[in-house]
Amino acid sequence: MSQYRVAVVGATGAVGTVMLAKLKERDFPAAEIVPFASERSAGKELEGFGTIQPLTDETIQGFDLALFSAGGATSKEWAPKFVEAGAVVVDNSSAFRRDPEIPLVVSEVNPEALEDHKGLIANPNCSTMQLMVALKPIHEAVGIDRLNVSTYQSVSGTGVKAVKELEDQTRAALDGEALPAPTVYPHHIAFNVLGGAGNFPEGDDHTDEERKMMFETRKILGDESIKIAVTCARVPVRSSHSESVTLETREDLTVEAARELLANQPGLVLVDDPSTHSYPTALDSAGRDEVFVGRLRRDPTHPRGLQLWVVSDNLLKGAATNAVQIAEVLHERSLVRVSTPA
Ligand code: A2P
Repeated sequence: MSQYRVAVVGATGAVGTVMLAKLKERDFPAAEIVPFASERSAGKELEGFGTIQPLTDETIQGFDLALFSAGGATSKEWAPKFVEAGAVVVDNSSAFRRDPEIPLVVSEVNPEALEDHKGLIANPNCSTMQLMVALKPIHEAVGIDRLNVSTYQSVSGTGVKAVKELEDQTRAALDGEALPAPTVYPHHIAFNVLGGAGNFPEGDDHTDEERKMMFETRKILGDESIKIAVTCARVPVRSSHSESVTLETREDLTVEAARELLANQPGLVLVDDPSTHSYPTALDSAGRDEVFVGRLRRDPTHPRGLQLWVVSDNLLKGAATNAVQIAEVLHERSLVRVSTPA
């Protein structure tokens, strides 16, 4: 049985800490798991994982696998160096997702894209990740012509500072004090809804978060012709993203047939009974690895229109769990070592 030496880069961050926990919880065959973070944390002890390492040309040697979640700049600089030193890298940042040479993989949706990896694999954006698990069986069966998605994204996707910002503002509001000025988001997040999650690149009327969903959906489903409209919103929720999805299929699909397709999709749980107000919520899905779908119904404005509600823990399936699941597929398919052409 293979036993790998695994690096987790960004091990003190919102996603990195969960990557470490998932590697252990899912019994990934690791001989050693080594945590890496910035110079600020290097040298400190991380309970259960030993001393936090800094990124240097020496410390990155001798790894089979590296899971990265330390921001795009760190990935751009250090992921290729890990690959050069012999590791396969699964990167959670957006640094490499648009590169046509680099597979962008949701473990239950397009694992076959891993077959010809060249050492670097990109983990999709959290909102796109959960959407793909729900859309894959429908797209495969009848094709999706058009998609309209509104997200309700939790703050943990932005990082640990954003969670603290929500907590501090909420506490101040409940204590009747003036809200501390926002530092992470452009507006107060407590008791508010921000209608543009992400940043607006110069000259663009869509946020980068919205662009990610538009681009990544087509890349993962392997279909450039899918039409997509997206609004990403940030809501004062700690964990789990929720999404309202309206879609039009290319061929006819009854609601009952769609329900059966979803029920058979690995990694997806249907929670859908209007008579008991049963549908997925952010609180119920937090801490779970699956994607939850409910509110499946006919869009009354279109004969091939369907509507659904998709919820998942953005730090788990949306990030850390999928990265570890990719590592598991690489292990199962003997793809951990890159075969260098003779
Ligand atoms: P550190 O805790 O030492 O700053 P989050 O997504 O929650 O903001 O976490 C970001 C993660 O990326 C943290 O583990 C952080 O480490 C790490 N990180 C940030 N900048 C660097 C860097 N230049 N080199 C290595 N790790 C970094």
